[in-house]
Amino acid sequence: MDVKIAPSILAADFVRLADECEEVLDAGADWLHVDVMDGHFVPNLTIGLPVVRDLRAEFPDAVLDVHIMIDNPDEYAAEFVEAGADIVSFHPEATKHAHRVIQSIHDAGGEASLAINPGTNLSSVEYVADDLDMVLLMSVNPGFGGQSFVPATLQKLRDLTTKLEELGRPDLPLQVDGGVKAHNIAEIRRAGADIFVAGSAIFGADSYESAISELRAGAKSVEMV
Ligand code: DX5
Ligand code: ZN
Repeated sequence: MDVKIAPSILAADFVRLADECEEVLDAGADWLHVDVMDGHFVPNLTIGLPVVRDLRAEFPDAVLDVHIMIDNPDEYAAEFVEAGADIVSFHPEATKHAHRVIQSIHDAGGEASLAINPGTNLSSVEYVADDLDMVLLMSVNPGFGGQSFVPATLQKLRDLTTKLEELGRPDLPLQVDGGVKAHNIAEIRRAGADIFVAGSAIFGADSYESAISELRAGAKSVEMV
């Protein structure tokens, strides 16, 4: 699967959000990763539906990759698709009915992804693998940008790759989110990731173009079998 780089706009300057998004898209970003936090599921509050709606209007062709770290995704996941999200990642711990949330995303015309926290078992993908369009492995505890990559994510990625082969879904794209940098992206790629979210590594850099190229080159330096 081709490498994709998804800048997390959580690390952008929100006052200049449209310019920041345009700059990373011009610099080669494949997707825009939008982190939605509700102050309940995670101890932080960020942005929500109106921002997704405005981003969709401003960037009609961009892939909006919306990561909802919220309680009760049953109520909101479809609304994010209606607001313009192409893909919605939600956390299984936040709902009693993960399968129903996936259905609601699909019914609204979006793609569905399960986001797995560092301490959460991979078994949550087992009975929904056929219905998913992506799996997001969190490589930090969700809530904040700029944290360090949790090393156990590498073995978890390898375990997930094996599990998805057993489940007949080796085609499912794997996204890694949190602490992705130029110095560790190659080993994350080698462990099985395809889509790399990076906030501080891109928005904290002087040149977005160099940061994105460096990340992509690091991931592409790994030969996948
Ligand atoms: C954390 C978010 C991440 C975060 C990534 O809760 O889901 O997307 O913004 O930021 P960095 O790349 O700085 O770890
Ligand atoms: Zn995220």
